[in-house]
Amino acid sequence: MKTSFPIDESLHIDLRGQAGCEIVGRPGSGKSWLATFILLMAMALGAFPVICDTKRSDFYKLGQMFDSILGKGHVSCVAATPPQVAKELRLLNKLMNDRYEHNNGWGKDWVDFNLRPIVLIFDEFSATMAEADKDTAKEISDYMKQLVFKSRQMGGIYTVLCSQRLNSNVLDVNVSAEFGTRVAMQQLDKISLRLIFPQCDLDAIPFVDNLPGHGLVYSDYFKNPLPQPFVAPDLTRVDVPQVALKLFKSNEINSFKKENYWPF
Ligand SMILES: Nc1ncnc2c1ncn2[C@@H]1O[C@H](COP(=O)(O)OP(=O)(O)OP(=O)(O)O)[C@@H](O)[C@H]1O
Ligand SMILES: [Mg+2]
Repeated sequence: MKTSFPIDESLHIDLRGQAGCEIVGRPGSGKSWLATFILLMAMALGAFPVICDTKRSDFYKLGQMFDSILGKGHVSCVAATPPQVAKELRLLNKLMNDRYEHNNGWGKDWVDFNLRPIVLIFDEFSATMAEADKDTAKEISDYMKQLVFKSRQMGGIYTVLCSQRLNSNVLDVNVSAEFGTRVAMQQLDKISLRLIFPQCDLDAIPFVDNLPGHGLVYSDYFKNPLPQPFVAPDLTRVDVPQVALKLFKSNEINSFKKENYWPF
């Protein structure tokens, strides 16, 4: 099973062995475009998409399109309100637990068992948490914790978490650290930088231009603890809904293991 793809010459993303990718940046900095690129590349490897988008932006529309292909009576793969997000994450946690229960082998992971990967796009994480009531916010935060800690081995769920701002009230530092790839789009305030690149000297961080798509990236695969400047792929010429539709449909018939607990 192929599980990785390049973002630029120096950076690749591997759905295997990492909990996901965290992307932080101000409005218009290019978070959603980068998340879209990762979504499409993961779907090209067969991943099933799950979308949490309480801003009801383009991701929500993609999710609705996927739901319409799944048809009536199917569990939705898109969440547009904090309670729906909590429900979607509960579903994914259950899937993860079922996977652990039904597939066991010492030192083996979801790839060894040919389990279908899931790519979870969580856009505007901090805004969702701000909108959620106290209980729902706690539920979301607890499920996120379990997701990032358990997804790597048998979960097979790769999370792309986008957020305008991050601080430890919104996302626990230990949870943030589980994301194998961490991206800061454009220039960012020190609090967000500290959380997203906890191990690095903030004064040594390279300069980036305040242009959409320009940012800093750190990956657990890097030998150097410093984040590196990069430019995210330009999607101007990509018809995203068309490509996503094609990929979603062509993945309906696949050679991944049949799982009778599969929720979607
Ligand atoms: N890699 C890129 N190359 C060229 N242009 C880009 C790139 N990424 C983003 N842009 C441009 O910047 C705009 C905003 O990008 P995007 O919607 O991804 O930002 P965002 O950080 O998600 O903003 P918001 O917080 O408003 O959701 C895009 O519509 C596009 O015009
Ligand atoms: Mg966005």
